Amino acid sequence: MKVLSTTAGLLLAAAATAPAAVNFRTQVWPVLAKNCVECHRAPYKDNAGKMIEPKGRLRLDGAGGIMKGGNEGESVVAGDPDKSPLYQRILLPIDHEDAMPPKGKGKPLSFNDSELIKEWIIDGADFGDWKGSDAGAPVAAKAAPKTADPLAAGATIAPEAAKQKISSLGALVTPIVKDSPLLRIEWVSGAGAIGDKEVVELAAVAGNISELDLSGTKITDEALTTVAKFPRLTWLKLNGTAVTDAGVAKLKGLVNLNYLNLHSTNVSDTSLTTLTGLRKLRQVYLWKTRVTPGEAAKFAKSIPDLRVALE
Ligand code: HEC
Repeated sequence: MKVLSTTAGLLLAAAATAPAAVNFRTQVWPVLAKNCVECHRAPYKDNAGKMIEPKGRLRLDGAGGIMKGGNEGESVVAGDPDKSPLYQRILLPIDHEDAMPPKGKGKPLSFNDSELIKEWIIDGADFGDWKGSDAGAPVAAKAAPKTADPLAAGATIAPEAAKQKISSLGALVTPIVKDSPLLRIEWVSGAGAIGDKEVVELAAVAGNISELDLSGTKITDEALTTVAKFPRLTWLKLNGTAVTDAGVAKLKGLVNLNYLNLHSTNVSDTSLTTLTGLRKLRQVYLWKTRVTPGEAAKFAKSIPDLRVALE
């Protein structure tokens, strides 16, 4: 609901956190330990000898507690950050009564830290060999992977041959979680050689693509005619391309879009009119575009829980 002013560096760093699997022990745990565990840990006696229970009866100091949740039930639904209070509460505006850490009791998490938690949940909330201080407590069975995701309903596993063909263009083609029919397609290197013609090849798996990174490619608005036909697209990076408002206008049917990166493109305020119709958008990057701060702020307010990064 607010326009985030991030520095260029932070924004790039945030964008870069997405691809690799997040490691709980080295990446997520330090964030929880620093910001949350003070209030969400094993019961202890304070100086006056009074028993202090974990707030909300939620313990975040061990894998068992994190999966068990608190008074309001589960805190983490593996594969689904939208249904995970642990992530939802850190996203809330600081003045919201459910925001974590509570107002005045700690600094809101940085964008990077919230992204790490989100990615960890999307990856399946895997603790690896980390158990934390409630070692011994059973870790609840992992929730069903993304295949239980309503978005995956009706999608069939993409044919191997079609995936191979796309890989042969230098793309990395991976299921978004193990055994999911939904795919993530990105170019780790060689993006500069990819243009509109190559993007046409992706249409062979149109119903499978959920995450697509076309940043730094030489695509034009033309490629978005193809991209507009990916009904399950939730995550799209177009930063550093020649895309303009005319291209963004083609995306108006991508109702599942949650994340859109348009930084360093030629888009202007005109694109915001298109994007306002995409009610599931939560993160939009508009740094180094012609979008004006006033319109960006209006846009941010037009969709609940939308974060807009302009600089
Ligand atoms: C200064 C104390 C404090 C800190 C720090 C804090 N919380 Fe909380 N938390 C609370 C209190 C109090 C509640 C219970 C009231 C409520 O539900 O809002 C709570 C409740 C919660 C709940 C809901 C539990 C349930 O099932 O009812 C979640 C999830 C949560 N916190 C996550 C976090 C996360 C994640 C962090 C760190 C980013 C954090 N909290 C940091 C005090 C804190």
